[in-house]
Amino acid sequence: MTTGWTLFIAILTAVNVVGAIWLLWVTSKRSPGEMQPGAETTGHTWDGDLKEYNNPLPRWWLWLFYGTVVFSLAYLVLYPGLGSWQGTLGWSQESQWQQQVEAAEKAAAPVYARFEQMSLEELSQDPDAMRVARNLYANNCAACHGSDARGAVGFPNLTDGDWLYGGQPDTILTTIGYGRNGVMPPWGDALGEQGVEEVVAYVLTLSGQSAPSELAAAGQAKFQMFCSSCHGLDGKGMQAVGAPNLTDGSWLYENTAESIRYTVVNGRNNMMPAQLELLGEQKVRVLAAYVMSISPRPPAPEAAAEPVEADVTAGEAGARDGTDADS
Ligand code: HEC
Ligand code: HEC
Repeated sequence: MTTGWTLFIAILTAVNVVGAIWLLWVTSKRSPGEMQPGAETTGHTWDGDLKEYNNPLPRWWLWLFYGTVVFSLAYLVLYPGLGSWQGTLGWSQESQWQQQVEAAEKAAAPVYARFEQMSLEELSQDPDAMRVARNLYANNCAACHGSDARGAVGFPNLTDGDWLYGGQPDTILTTIGYGRNGVMPPWGDALGEQGVEEVVAYVLTLSGQSAPSELAAAGQAKFQMFCSSCHGLDGKGMQAVGAPNLTDGSWLYENTAESIRYTVVNGRNNMMPAQLELLGEQKVRVLAAYVMSISPRPPAPEAAAEPVEADVTAGEAGARDGTDADS
């Protein structure tokens, strides 16, 4: 709080307390004994003969008010109330919240101790773990990925088995724990207006959408020159850099020419925030298992790592990127 606000609040509070004392003092000067002649009633009359007496407050009632003033003074000494004064007890909403969090974590410790013994695969099939996970997901992930985890424009769908970075248990754990930053550089200047139109046409045909064929043919060469290092010669993407597969029907942004043109011209910079420091390892593991439980499981890496000769079309390194992304 700035000094100005501290002074403002402290003075306002003090003036209020002093004002209350003054009011009580003025009221108490008139004791019940000394009535002004003719001022016994307020002059209000109801139902013909019901009059309102103008008596001062009874003593015990007055002392009750004095009691509240004493209480407020004691409160202002013990607790924060006067601007930035912390209070002698050192109480704060934050420390109270901290204590509550610690109590909750203590209560949850035995539950997580059991989860720690389990593999991600086992966790993803454990009903207790998944019940905990659903709450964690709703509190920490649903705002971006949606309550049904189907994502939105710019936020990937976690249930469709189409992965930007990969669906292996350890990959998902890394994604959630350390976050991801998908960077697609802008290509508007390098390609020029005509070049952009050609590449956009080619990307449309990659996913089976229609586009003028001469434009798309010209776009293919440019795609291989400018885009294949990340998206692969075949356009199937590369999980190491989070470059999406452009040949499937699944889009991080929209599948329209307009949206693709925007991506190509301006690039994209997309952030999945790291959760490890925020949530701790135990919760991140449970969340990774949850993501596994709601998505189709990809084949184990051993099976997928078999060489696929047919896909390696030429000797370029780029071709290998394309096949790797298939796994
Ligand atoms: C602030 C928004 C935001 C929050 C909160 C968030 N994410 Fe993400 N997440 C993203 C974005 C954006 C991406 C895509 C990053 C990219 O394009 O490189 C992403 C990517 C992912 C991926 C990778 C998907 C793939 O296809 O490889 C996983 C898994 C994931 N998030 C899980 C989670 C979980 C679990 C939580 C909750 C702990 C969470 N996210 C919270 C925005 C968010
Ligand atoms: C340096 C690597 C890199 C290069 C080169 C690159 N991209 Fe990308 N591209 C990415 C990444 C990473 C993303 C995902 C961005 C995100 O997470 O938001 C992406 C996203 C896209 C998307 C959006 C896909 C979707 O699902 O919505 C399109 C379309 C695209 N790129 C087309 C191209 C084209 C066309 C070129 C060549 C002119 C190109 N990219 C070059 C890395 C690259």
